[in-house]
Formats: sequence, structure tokens, C-alpha cells
Amino acid sequence: MRMVDIIEKKRDGIELSTEEIQFFIDGYTKGDIPDYQVSALMMAVYFQGMNERERSDLTMAMVHSGDVIDLSKIEGIKVDKHSTGGVGDTTTLVLGPLVASVGVPVAKMSGRGLGHTGGTIDKLESIEGFHVEISNDDFIRLVNENKMAVVGQSGNLTPADKKLYALRDVTATVQSIPLIASSIMSKKIAAGADCIVLDVKTGSGAFMKTIEEARALAEAMVRIGNRVGRNTIAIISDMNQPLGYAIGNALEVKEAIDTLKGEGPEDLTELCLSLGSQMVYLAKKASTIEDARDMLKESIQSGRALEKFKTFLASQGGDATVVDQPEKLPQAKFQFDLPATEEGWIAGMDAEKIGISAMLLGAGRATKESSIDLSVGIVLRKKIGDRVAKGESLLTIYANREEVDDVKHLLYESIILSKEKTEQVKLIHDIIT
Ligand code: URA
Ligand code: CA
Repeated sequence: MRMVDIIEKKRDGIELSTEEIQFFIDGYTKGDIPDYQVSALMMAVYFQGMNERERSDLTMAMVHSGDVIDLSKIEGIKVDKHSTGGVGDTTTLVLGPLVASVGVPVAKMSGRGLGHTGGTIDKLESIEGFHVEISNDDFIRLVNENKMAVVGQSGNLTPADKKLYALRDVTATVQSIPLIASSIMSKKIAAGADCIVLDVKTGSGAFMKTIEEARALAEAMVRIGNRVGRNTIAIISDMNQPLGYAIGNALEVKEAIDTLKGEGPEDLTELCLSLGSQMVYLAKKASTIEDARDMLKESIQSGRALEKFKTFLASQGGDATVVDQPEKLPQAKFQFDLPATEEGWIAGMDAEKIGISAMLLGAGRATKESSIDLSVGIVLRKKIGDRVAKGESLLTIYANREEVDDVKHLLYESIILSKEKTEQVKLIHDIIT
């Protein structure tokens, strides 16, 4: 087989065979096929697309390019959740203990990653003593005993995706639905998921800015999952403003605890119940989505979800008393309110800019080497549709520096006020099965 023939076929709009897809993924992973040929192929895919069979073949070729995690020693159906990324997205911290509390095994492998705030592991590390350096055997034992454990990413998962994503990033070929869908799905499948629940975000703070784009990506991923034997469901949720009120590591842990207590923000609670009920249903712990939702609500009301969070924290060395004494979480030295300069209603937010503001305070990493400040961030006091009086606080900045004019300036730019009454935004735009 020759790579040049594969490029030519795709250039001319002819579908690639399973063998051809495997050939270029294997060759590229091993270093036998050069970047320039794969770049040309990616551009051809960008213009010509890939059909459902090609997308599934690409996904599975990338899965088998490296290690595949074996979770078969964990009892029950392993359902993983993936979010395409937003601002202040605290769902994983809430969903883990919530679905574990009704018997769904949560075997979470998580990275630190780059972004406006840290990843799930960074957030959890704001709890004294909590650590993710556990052996594979302990990880499996903990999930079987407690239904939940979190471990740092180890092994060589989907090396083909790592190389391809880096190449696409510098060849203007990231924004291609078949390539994004197979990239995301390959990572979830290699991590051992039997079933996958996807949270595809749309709006100013999301990768997919419009609902149409988000729907196309969601449909592509659901089709791949179902075709390769992983039951997959996607929720399209709104990211025109940050989720919940808190953006920042320890601040989000506090928000997650509030939500597990039944006292969290309405949107975060609703999204967790929606994603969670899909997870419980796919794990076959409930026969309908409605039953699954009732189980989760009951678990919050009875305190079982919160209890599960404590057990999980303690099992990985964490100080579980923070759940009842959140003041033990890292605290920023200074707080500044951002007063509204005039009265009105909140008409819009630029979630991306609010995320960048949190990052400027030190809540996220710009490069892999940067360190993050777990205590800093932003807590919104108002969301889209809310009325504000002149001088009323729009949000509070939590900082470890005395001078935050740069952040205030960016935050004023991120919040749009209107003289006319505005409406709340719809949180869940669609569910794709
Ligand atoms: N996120 C991914 O993981 N892969 C892509 O291709 C795009 C976004
Ligand atoms: Ca939040």
C-alpha cells in the first residue's frame, strides 16, 4: 500500500477502506509515514469528509495505536462522561459521587490539562491530603468497594491521536467533524468505557459556537459509539455563560459540595441530573430515564450523595471534614466586588473572556509547566436574565494580588447589560441518542 494513493483517493472524494485507514494510522504512529503526507490527507478529509464507516474505522485504529485500559475486573457497566469543555464546569465533581451513590461504578482517569482552571485532579487536590498516585490494583479495588476512584492518566493512550491532533493544530485541520469526533471517541474507548455520555457545549464559551455545529458533532460521536459497540448518548448544553457561579479550583469544589447538598446553582444541578440520569440508565441501574432521575434526586435529599463524596475523599487520603467545613479549602487573600455601572438586566456574557479572567488571576495553566493557584477565581452574583441595580455586585474576584485592574477591565467587557428585560437562557438544547 502507498500513502500517496490513499491521499489521492480521499482528494478525489473516494471512501477509504478499513485497511487503508489502519495502514496510515499504524504508519504514522510508528514514524514510517511523514508529517507532510499526513497533513495532505488531513486537508483532503477536511474538504471531502468521511462517512460513518470511515469515522468508526479511524476511531478504532487510533484506539489500537496504544494501550487500552482493561476495566473488566470492575463489576458493573462502566459509563464514562465527557464534556467538550466550557468555563466553570464543575459537573464531574458532582456527577462522580452522585451516580456512584446509586451504584454506578465511576472509574475516572483524569489529566491536569491546560485551561482557564485546572482539571478535575487539580480541583480535588485543593483538599488536604488527597492524592491520585494509586496503583492500578488499588484503583480497581477502590472502585469495587466504594464505586468511585480517580487516578492520574498513565500508560500510552491513543498515541496516534496525540500526534494527529498536534499536526492538525498547525495545519488548520482541527475544525473537521469526522476528525474531532474520532479524536474524542478514541480517547474515551481506550480509557475503558463500556458506555459514554457526552456533554457537547455550545455558545460563547464553547468550542462549538452554534447549536448546528454542536448537533453535528454530537450526532457524529453518538453514531461512532453505537457502531463500535459502546452505547453513547449526547446532551447539547448551553455555554453562553459559565456553568454555576464559581470559576476556580477550590471555589468549584465548594460549589460541588453545595450541589451535592441540594443547595447548588440551579443550572449546575439541572445539568448534573440530566447527565447523571443518562449515565444511570446506560449502566442499567434504572429502567427509565425518569426513574434514574428520581433515584439521583433522592440520593441528594437523603444525604447519600454527599456521604459518598466523603468516603471517596477519605479513601484517597483526603480530609473529608472539608465537606462540612469548606473554610478549610485554600482561601484567597483578597476579595473585590465588581459593581454594576448602571441599572438593567444581564443580556449576555462572554464566557471565554470570563475564563481568561480566572486564568489571569492564576486559576489555570497557560503551559504544561505553569503552576496554578487553587484558591483564586471568580464567583458570579448575577447570570443572564437577572436584574441588577446600579452599584450592585455583578461578581466577586478572589485574588492573591492587591491590584486586579486588568481583570476588572476584562470582566466589564465580558458582561453585557440591557435597559430592557432579558430572558434566562435555555440550558439543555437537545438530547441525541
Ligand atoms: N478535542 C479533541 O480531543 N480532539 C479534537 O480533535 C478536537 C477537540
Ligand atoms: Ca461552576
